[in-house]
Amino acid sequence: MGSSLLATRTHTPFWRWAHPVLFTIALISIVLLHSSTFISLVFSQSSPQEFSRRSQILSKCAYIHAKPGPPPNFHARTQSDRFVDSEDVTPLLVRNATIWTAAHDGHEVLTGDLLMHRSLIKAIGDVPLSLIRQVELKSRKLEVINAHGAWVTPGIVDLHSHIGVVSAPQLNGACDTSSRKAPILPWLRSIDGLNTHDASYELAMAGGITTAQIVPGSANDIGGQAFIIKLRPTNECSPSSMLLKPPHTLNGSHFDHSLTPRWRHMKHACGENPSRVYGMTRLDSGWNFRAAYDSARKLRDTQDAFCAKVESDSWDDLAEKTFPEELQWESLVDVLRGCVRLSVHCYEAVDLNRIVCLTNEFEFPVASFHHAGETYLVPELLKKTWGGTPAIALFASNFRKKHEAYRGSEFAPRVLAEHGTDVVMKSDHPIVNSRYLLHEAAQAHYYGLDPALALLSVTYTPATAMGMGHRIGMLKPGYDADIVIWSSHPLSLASTPTQVYIDGIPQLSLPGRYVAKGPTTPPRTPNFDSEKVAAVAHDGIPPLEPRSVKGTLFVNVSGLYMRGEGSSGVMRVSEQVGSVRVEDGRVVCVGQCSNFAEGVVDVFFFF
Ligand SMILES: *[C@@H]1O[C@H](CO)[C@@H](O)[C@H](O)[C@H]1NC(C)=O
Ligand SMILES: *[C@@H]1O[C@H](CO)[C@@H](O)[C@H](O)[C@H]1NC(C)=O
Ligand SMILES: *[C@@H]1O[C@H](CO)[C@@H](O)[C@H](O)[C@H]1NC(C)=O
Repeated sequence: MGSSLLATRTHTPFWRWAHPVLFTIALISIVLLHSSTFISLVFSQSSPQEFSRRSQILSKCAYIHAKPGPPPNFHARTQSDRFVDSEDVTPLLVRNATIWTAAHDGHEVLTGDLLMHRSLIKAIGDVPLSLIRQVELKSRKLEVINAHGAWVTPGIVDLHSHIGVVSAPQLNGACDTSSRKAPILPWLRSIDGLNTHDASYELAMAGGITTAQIVPGSANDIGGQAFIIKLRPTNECSPSSMLLKPPHTLNGSHFDHSLTPRWRHMKHACGENPSRVYGMTRLDSGWNFRAAYDSARKLRDTQDAFCAKVESDSWDDLAEKTFPEELQWESLVDVLRGCVRLSVHCYEAVDLNRIVCLTNEFEFPVASFHHAGETYLVPELLKKTWGGTPAIALFASNFRKKHEAYRGSEFAPRVLAEHGTDVVMKSDHPIVNSRYLLHEAAQAHYYGLDPALALLSVTYTPATAMGMGHRIGMLKPGYDADIVIWSSHPLSLASTPTQVYIDGIPQLSLPGRYVAKGPTTPPRTPNFDSEKVAAVAHDGIPPLEPRSVKGTLFVNVSGLYMRGEGSSGVMRVSEQVGSVRVEDGRVVCVGQCSNFAEGVVDVFFFF
């Protein structure tokens, strides 16, 4: 055997075996010549410890210049990282659904089926029978639901929530939204206050919410880091296990730096809230931000100088030195490196202006402005934000409740959308109960926001603003299996989920009947063109003077109370009144009152 092998080799012509060997040697030489750091790492390190130290530093330096996002091959995944391999998690086929996918700028509606397996959406629309068979075979189970034409959307995504940190029931001391220790606290983290027993999780899921960004409160200029959670209960019952793709820094700075960075999240706030808490003014806040970013910039520059030496192979200058780190500032350094999806709570033009200037002074992007009452009045300012116009996260109508909210408008979502700005509707739970977040979108639509954009404002747009648009907020093969089946068109009043799936797991223990009832198209809305124009023209305070009327006629009145003598000061004048006529502030007729012959009259009907 041995000799015959030898014989074969000696008889092989030289070019046959030498060609690939020479080629490989040449290739390795080229790679090595282009990688001087590698050469020095291999040949000039003095000990295995030094080799390991240098490898770690090299990978840290490569990591700080990498951009966050889905890791390579993410879209080829065959199961979710959140998949729970247990008996009661079965693949699901939803048949005969009207599926709003969020794709094609919110205009795609498919009539057909939807298949979910291993916490992912496998297929949508026309689901091939072969695929259904394949899934059934693999899992030996398949649940089939007939939706009878009901609407299906992606799970609702809440970009601004305090669920779990302002927990219900709120007993004394159960509020962990903000620290009141200082105005600048980028090192704090909302996850550290996340209560897994908040009764609102179930209520929010009953409204179709599947994912929420838990932001710190607005008592500080920099209140801390935000975290994304899915609302369903987990087997581990811990806050950590609720997190969606938490950053590698969650457990400290000692992680595998060859991994693709994940998005981090942070909250800033300006205006009345931080000022009120710390007895500051906007001038103090402005400096607080600049001083904080200056500290972060210094650390970032020190790191960059260190890594420049590493990359130019100047190891002699770096003997015994470690990568420059400061736990307090590392998250703000990541903002400067463009690795943080930043949420900034800001109402007024003066505050928006401060932040836009700050982004240009220190060169960092903002993912979204929140509350953002006056954003629709300063669209050109928003476009000057460093790195691009942020998404604007609004309430539908929760304005005029305080000075900085005074110029907010119901027409803001429409005006911003007309400027090409991304619009998000958010709850700020518990300010608006997040169970009714979809109603915020319905109201935005009522006041003129395009229906596709209204649905996107609580699904794909917030998912993108939080850096998760590659896996949630849209129904598409390979996306997370977070879906809601609705009782009627999701923008119609009183539409409610009949079932909600998170990671393919049903969350409502008493699902409704799957029926296509109510309107199948978005509700018709009034024409508010002139009101929208007036809102902008009058800086959010359109004149609300009363019309001049001759009088008022109240009809079908069952009882009349008049100011009178006596202790209560009020006297019931009569039962079964009929109608009441008022002129110049005085009641002039009670009983069978006729209408006014001419002039403008307000008529109120009572039932
Ligand atoms: C889907 O459901 C609708 C509403 O119940 C019904 O009219 C239609 O016939 C169903 N289509 C199929 C293919 O079952
Ligand atoms: C952080 O630690 C927790 C608890 O040990 C673990 O479950 C989780 O996977 C870790 N997360 C990251 C991002 O390293
Ligand atoms: C007056 O109110 C009653 C209910 O209290 C209602 O049945 C009736 O239709 C109303 N009449 C008019 C004229 O609106």
